[in-house]
Amino acid sequence: MPDNWKLKDKSFTKFILNDDIQAKVSELADRINTDLAGKKPLFIVVLNGAFIFASDLLKKVNIDCEIAFVKLSSYVGTNSSGVVQQIIGLDLNIKGRTIVIIEDIVDSGLTLVGFRETLSVMEPAEVLIVACLLKPDAFKNKFPINYLCFSIPNEFVVGYGLDYDGLGRNSSDIYKIVEG
Ligand code: IMP
Repeated sequence: MPDNWKLKDKSFTKFILNDDIQAKVSELADRINTDLAGKKPLFIVVLNGAFIFASDLLKKVNIDCEIAFVKLSSYVGTNSSGVVQQIIGLDLNIKGRTIVIIEDIVDSGLTLVGFRETLSVMEPAEVLIVACLLKPDAFKNKFPINYLCFSIPNEFVVGYGLDYDGLGRNSSDIYKIVEG
């Protein structure tokens, strides 16, 4: 992909290279392999955006585990908590399990606030979060992110699974928006 990428009406510039992403993904996988050995975790991949990150990460996870997929849509109500609808839902019994949610990016965190509430009703033993990207200024530490590749400024990014209006997911590098 070029250094500068035009998607519809927006321009993007290369921001995080795939080599740097892969180095972080390997670090996270090593930590997960150590921390969660023997727990047979259930990884829940949040579609659509996390598909590339999850694929790279899970190929490096070498402990016994299961993998499931959900598709979430979040609606922010008049109060500050997200109401999350599962478009593709979870059809497994997770009672007593170690759950690891794999997200592409945590922005406000409201999608995960809602999804964590949905999961907690199902009585898992623990719910951990893996995210490729985090925007700390928007997130404001609402809950722990257990495994994270990169904290980034509050700017719109695409690539490595993330889209702008449906476009841009198919890049191995991450791009950020060029304002103006
Ligand atoms: P949150 O509920 O505000 O944390 O938003 C999470 C979801 O919004 C992510 O899973 C993405 O699908 C989307 N999102 C947030 N920030 C970006 C971005 O910079 N680029 C593309 N999608 C984003």
